[in-house]
Amino acid sequence: MAGANGTVLLLNPVQELAVDCNTPTQRYIHKGGDEDIDVSPPVIDISVIDLSSIQTSSPSAEKELEKLRTSLASCGCFQVIVHRIGRDFFALPLKEKAKWSRTAEDTEGYGNDSELSEHQLLDWNDRLYLVTNPQDQRKFQFWPQNPENFRDILQEYTEKIILLNEVVLKALSRSLNLKENCFLDQYGENPNMVTRFNYYPPCLRPDLTLGVKQHADGSAITFLLQDNEVDGLQVLKDDQWFSVPTIPNALLVNVGDQVEIMSNGIFKSPMHRVVTNPKRERTTVAVFCSPDPSRYIGPAEELISDASPRLYKKIKNYVGIFFENYQLGKRAIEAVKM
Ligand code: OGA
Ligand code: NI
Repeated sequence: MAGANGTVLLLNPVQELAVDCNTPTQRYIHKGGDEDIDVSPPVIDISVIDLSSIQTSSPSAEKELEKLRTSLASCGCFQVIVHRIGRDFFALPLKEKAKWSRTAEDTEGYGNDSELSEHQLLDWNDRLYLVTNPQDQRKFQFWPQNPENFRDILQEYTEKIILLNEVVLKALSRSLNLKENCFLDQYGENPNMVTRFNYYPPCLRPDLTLGVKQHADGSAITFLLQDNEVDGLQVLKDDQWFSVPTIPNALLVNVGDQVEIMSNGIFKSPMHRVVTNPKRERTTVAVFCSPDPSRYIGPAEELISDASPRLYKKIKNYVGIFFENYQLGKRAIEAVKM
């Protein structure tokens, strides 16, 4: 399959595989491996937080901050309401999508699960992976121009998420009685943002496969726009999988490993995964926000005491550490513990 500039698309998209039969081949069978697949575990109750009230200093702000603190300390996620952007890209013919294909040299662009090793099990998922901030790191050769307004919408969405990221980071600090800018200051001027559009074709054997295998995010904060109709995301809480309900136009906010580090382990970067659906396709948009990779991050000094000793080292470029460990099948956060 030829991609942009005649480059080679590395593997067949799952979407194409699914057109033929929707039945997974051996490489996609997770059952019998590390994960026990339950496609409909109990539904988890995730608080909806009113972020606009947090920006005031009223009693209702205190209540929302308390709700924020308890939901992040127990399951690591909360939800806010926003608009959604499109699934139109994945609906294009393969030939069109292939113009923006990932190449052997790059992690960005359109493709399926990256094959890091010969024996790795693959996720039933195609994605379009784009660095959206800082602006001078954008690789436009991977940014679709079909749908026509794709780039404008992604630009606008990115700007909004940068603002939301600030609001959320301030709220997280305040909910721990820290100075408002405590976490934000660790970010530096220009947050690093990566947007991943996920496409999950139907799969006739949801009992065998995974849309995304279990992982925690390497970001500080992840903003996930779920499909409005089809769910599939599960989070691990108290060693049990729960399915995350879909609220139309809501954005699921989960903390990643870097907030777990900055909060000295008070906020949990949740393990999560995606199951497949036998009948319906599912499209989501995940934005991973991280501090400038050249800056050191670590637990806020105010959170460290004799009673709660420092749990994590000071490190920089956690996303780099994350992917090194991911390739080895390890949790990166273990590697940065004291
Ligand atoms: C991810 C992720 C969940 C989903 O992209 O890291 O966890 O529901 N996605 O698509
Ligand atoms: Ni994730």
